[in-house]
Amino acid sequence: MPMAAKRIGILTGGGDCPGLNAVIRAVAKTAILDFGLEIVGMEDGYEGLIEHRSRPLAYNNVSGILSEGGTILGTSNRANPFGFPVVRADGETVFEDRSDLVRDYVKELDLSCLVCIGGDGTLTIAHRLMEECGVPCVGVPKTIDNDLYGTDVTFGFDTARQIATEAIDRLHTTAQSHHRAMVIEVMGRNAGWLALEAGIAGGGDVILLPELPHSLEAICERLVSRSRTGRRFSIVVVSEGVELEGGGQVVRCEVADSMNAARLGGVGDVLAARIEEASGVETRVTVLGHLLRGGTPSSADRVLATRYGREAAVCAGTGRHGVMVGLHCGEIVPVPLSEVAGRQRLVPPDHHLIACARSVGASFGD
Ligand code: F6P
Repeated sequence: MPMAAKRIGILTGGGDCPGLNAVIRAVAKTAILDFGLEIVGMEDGYEGLIEHRSRPLAYNNVSGILSEGGTILGTSNRANPFGFPVVRADGETVFEDRSDLVRDYVKELDLSCLVCIGGDGTLTIAHRLMEECGVPCVGVPKTIDNDLYGTDVTFGFDTARQIATEAIDRLHTTAQSHHRAMVIEVMGRNAGWLALEAGIAGGGDVILLPELPHSLEAICERLVSRSRTGRRFSIVVVSEGVELEGGGQVVRCEVADSMNAARLGGVGDVLAARIEEASGVETRVTVLGHLLRGGTPSSADRVLATRYGREAAVCAGTGRHGVMVGLHCGEIVPVPLSEVAGRQRLVPPDHHLIACARSVGASFGD
């Protein structure tokens, strides 16, 4: 039987996401009430572990944060202990292994487990910390992209989908009044879940996913045929990770980073210009960007975050380490971190929601 934990650490890594505070609250409250554990919050994700910055989290510190967006602990997405960016005297950035600092700090704080709340980058690091440094970890799947392997859904996705849907609803107004095409770009990196589900919920006429190739000709054909049949407006939902014909993904900036290859964004602008030129339909673009990650979590995300957080505390409190808590057919189950690390869950081209969207008249530009 593994030794029972006495004090556990908790961190939030990668981009912020609605529901992070709800998870922190659920982990801490369950760990304190059900297991009598002490909680230490790492500041700014793995950066705090590397730089030895943390603070105790008492019950009162996690009260009243359920509905707050962001993370009370702060986060960082460049702090990889196995490749920490250091700027040398000559101005060049090099990536150094700082995992020994993490190992030392975990020992110094006497943590029996680290609960890591994050996306694929954060959980891949958690797996390496466990394997290479002997730091016992439990993962919680976070991301608006919904692209984590090993779970049916990540917390944050429902809120982002709702924000995107409301935005599409509002953009319908101008599209209809002015007989325009409105291009709406949503986040999601290489996964099209947000575009697909917000596209269905918002009644998108064209939905473009990174997983499916499209042609400008097919998009324009759809827009023009809608006009011809009296529907003189169109909604085009595009995922930021879509590859343009003959051009690849649109990268907002290359990041000198050992975790994220590039920051995506801007495909909507390029596409809108091409659509207008090729079809003659007046076209405007709206990039939803970080609006999708901001503000209070939806009720569904609050419930999911609370369930994940509670189960993560149970794993930590009972010595069940090396797992991520995942949702499978409505049940929260432990999934080995080894299965999750380094993998992405993309939209399969034969997914039932693609067929569903087609049945209600959406085109995927193919
Ligand atoms: O992974 C979440 C996400 O919002 C992606 O959808 C997006 O590509 C990325 O993070 C943006 O990251 P940043 O906030 O670092 O620009």
